[in-house]
Amino acid sequence: MTTLTPDMLVSSIRQSQQNEPDSGILSAVNHGFGRKGLIPLWTGEGPFKTPEFICEAASKALFDGETFYTWQRGLPELREALARYHNQFWPGPFSSERFFITGGGMQAIQVALQLLADKDDEIVIPSPTWPNFPGPMRMMEARPVFVPMLYEGQKWSLDLDRMRDCIGPKTRAICLISPSNPLGWVASREDLIAIRDMAREAGVWILADEVYARFYYGDCGSGPARSPSFMDVCDQDERVIYINTFSKNWAMTGWRVGWLQAPAALGPAIERIIQYNTSGTAAFMQKGALAAIENGEDFVAMQIEMARSCRDKVADALGQLNNVSFENPDGAFYSFFRIEGLSDSLGATLRIIDEANVGLAPGGTFGPGGEGFLRMCYLRDPDSLDEALDRLIGWLRNA
Ligand SMILES: Cc1ncc(COP(=O)(O)O)c(C=O)c1O
Repeated sequence: MTTLTPDMLVSSIRQSQQNEPDSGILSAVNHGFGRKGLIPLWTGEGPFKTPEFICEAASKALFDGETFYTWQRGLPELREALARYHNQFWPGPFSSERFFITGGGMQAIQVALQLLADKDDEIVIPSPTWPNFPGPMRMMEARPVFVPMLYEGQKWSLDLDRMRDCIGPKTRAICLISPSNPLGWVASREDLIAIRDMAREAGVWILADEVYARFYYGDCGSGPARSPSFMDVCDQDERVIYINTFSKNWAMTGWRVGWLQAPAALGPAIERIIQYNTSGTAAFMQKGALAAIENGEDFVAMQIEMARSCRDKVADALGQLNNVSFENPDGAFYSFFRIEGLSDSLGATLRIIDEANVGLAPGGTFGPGGEGFLRMCYLRDPDSLDEALDRLIGWLRNA
């Protein structure tokens, strides 16, 4: 038998898989993971373990024998709880038939992309953006078409005319992450209406990632505390798919449970994709998710308040520096800041790990417009955020 070298093996897998660059977030994590004393602000998660009542519900279900194959669309009681949850915060009424449980928000993205994009199809997406949208698009041989966001006067904005210009005959969807990862920027109701109208006119889908909807620091008037949503301006039976997750609100990043909201007519197609990908999400974990959604509001509120005060702290600290520029964001829990003269954000991220023992994510990995910036997840307990900021400010003063 011939001996195949590692290069020969890699060069014989699909071209689209060979070509995809590593996520710079992972490059940073791989460089610094497990270092003694390192303060990790590189991925999108807070400091809290999942609350006990959620773990207890999952653990009870596990010990009660909920260890068999389960509903491909998710447990009916969890889908009903999601409908009730949505009725509380967004204009409904929502039926459980619109909700599908997935392996994290990430698998919700995969399912949505598999529903929408064939080879060479285009998906329009504002950039800088979280790499976990364009990466899987390219890996399935679809093409992300980036709409550059404008950064002027320390404010991010979306140029709707540029977005319109990006829509062409191959466009299948417009993807919007709002509140944005990595920018914290939040689309206004007017932005959402304009995007909805563009999508309607072009007959394309909207892929709405509203994972950070509850982490919103803008004015909500007398309405529920959350960011403006496509649910405010779109009909339930038009072409909109929503991505969401239990990861952020209920500190369940390691569980890998999320959900997708879509017109009920897509149910059989979504069920097929889930069947042929993961064959469903473990029932006992869904019981944990059910406890989260039914009894987790105090925890969510506590985290949002913490995020708000962390955000202010970061703005005060970074605001002291002349060589750093940023917008104090209205949503999510990231600070995306530019360092004057920086042209290699991955190199800087690795140096900050080595020299300041703080883990950040490199702006360049977030696509066009991101180089020169660094992203910090600021949802942290106050003491470790203070310590991280001290270390980082010291490093940045000498950068
Ligand atoms: C914008 C956005 N969408 C989706 C997700 C996916 O979340 P999950 O951890 O549940 O896969 C994340 C996670 O960071 C995110 O930032």
